[in-house]
Amino acid sequence: MARMLYLCGMKKVILFFATLLIIGALQSCSQNDSSCEAPINPNGSSELAQTMRTMMTYLNDEKQAILESKPKTEVPEGFDKILTATPTEGMEITENYPSYGKHFLSQLDQYKNCADDQRTEVFNALVSSCVNCHTSHCPGPIGAIEKNILNAEI
Ligand code: HEC
Repeated sequence: MARMLYLCGMKKVILFFATLLIIGALQSCSQNDSSCEAPINPNGSSELAQTMRTMMTYLNDEKQAILESKPKTEVPEGFDKILTATPTEGMEITENYPSYGKHFLSQLDQYKNCADDQRTEVFNALVSSCVNCHTSHCPGPIGAIEKNILNAEI
């Protein structure tokens, strides 16, 4: 009889700790959501990386607009931030960076103001100015950027 009681007692203790473990696991998950999710981008979200993502979306939208013969889309604010924005820690920024950046911004200006019959050509030059900087900084996205190049005949 004493033995039975002892067993029952043990079961209660085990159940108690099991419950604690489950509650603990649930809480650590809800308290810190990010630990339950894989990072969306291994490069993190520096100010520069965020601006770059907006630039990528802009290129994609613009390419689509050209293919559908639609008017130019509006250039989002803040692309000139690429000259000053903080990059991901450890990202190597060379002394050539500002000239790549300024070249891109002047290419963007040309694209905004170009005539319709030059649109494809000037757009391709804009895409190349992204690629040029990426050849010496952060080569990872080059393939994705180059997908925006349009055939000259279009
Ligand atoms: C002056 C150099 C320069 C120019 C021009 C440039 N980039 Fe970048 N880009 C970088 C650097 C440096 C990074 C890394 C940023 C970081 O991790 O903080 C980057 C990162 C990126 C990323 C990855 C962002 C992420 O999620 O981590 C994409 C996509 C990208 N650029 C697209 C573009 C596109 C599209 C253009 C042109 C419209 C462009 N870039 C023009 C230097 C440049």
